[in-house]
Amino acid sequence: MPEIAYVNGAYLPLAEARVSILDRGFLFADGVYEVAAVIGGRLIDNEAHLSRLEKSLRELRIESPLPIQTIADVEAELVARNELNEGLVYLQITRGAAGDRDFGFPSGATPTFIAFATKKNILASSAAETGVKVLTVPDMRWARRDIKAVALLAQVLAKQAALDADCQEAWMVDDDGYVTEGSSSTAFILTKSDTLVTRQNSTAILPGCTRKAVQSLAAREGLTLEDRSFSVTEAYEAKEAFLTSASNLVLPVVSIDGRPIGSGAPGARSRLLRALYIEWAMNPGAAR
Ligand code: PDD
Repeated sequence: MPEIAYVNGAYLPLAEARVSILDRGFLFADGVYEVAAVIGGRLIDNEAHLSRLEKSLRELRIESPLPIQTIADVEAELVARNELNEGLVYLQITRGAAGDRDFGFPSGATPTFIAFATKKNILASSAAETGVKVLTVPDMRWARRDIKAVALLAQVLAKQAALDADCQEAWMVDDDGYVTEGSSSTAFILTKSDTLVTRQNSTAILPGCTRKAVQSLAAREGLTLEDRSFSVTEAYEAKEAFLTSASNLVLPVVSIDGRPIGSGAPGARSRLLRALYIEWAMNPGAAR
């Protein structure tokens, strides 16, 4: 008997179950899930799982694709169709496939809802007899921002917070009040003494490719560069600010938290660095 999965209203063989590669669950980890045990063909403690699911959906502002009772019916139907006596039911709801890869919440996307059942011996467990060994590790959820991983949910929420505040980008701030980086860009400021500052590379930020090229171009222009942390207050008081990324190249920042940066218009150095970057990008043979 083939295993039966559920995808957006259809029950079909697991091997045929598919979602779009543009699904935000795949691209951004922009989704939620639950796992419930099945013992004796019955879902265990499922009300708790479904109420946590409702909370998770609410927190992420994802509309439930079905009423919660109907989700429970889908789970029960999977148990029945898979003749599952003992095992797990997994369900996942994502913000859906929007047709693009914009970080902010899409307006028209329908959430994706998938579920499948897995046979597993839960009751008869040899580990329950022997006990298990544990290793302690640093809690790094998610502290390795230097890895360009697809676990982008925090950045999605950051970008949406910016959009909700009529801004185009969010600069994320660490516990000590220092800017780490943009939700999908590198953050730069130009101090009043014309020093170009961006946070030093570490596990706290993604080492931007555009940043590196822009820093070389800036050095060639004779600007002083400093790789160091800068506080939100220092950013408010900067002469100029800009962000860099592959998708936006160099973009002047004109306000932060509603406070104008410099004159409140794109700064001269920011505009120059954008022009130099574009010139360099169009002439790939030119040395950095
Ligand atoms: N993001 N920091 C973060 C968190 C980023 O996601 C990005 C890029 C950057 C800039 O890196 P680069 O200059 O190499 O593009 C910094 C891409 C554009 C994205 O996810 O769409």
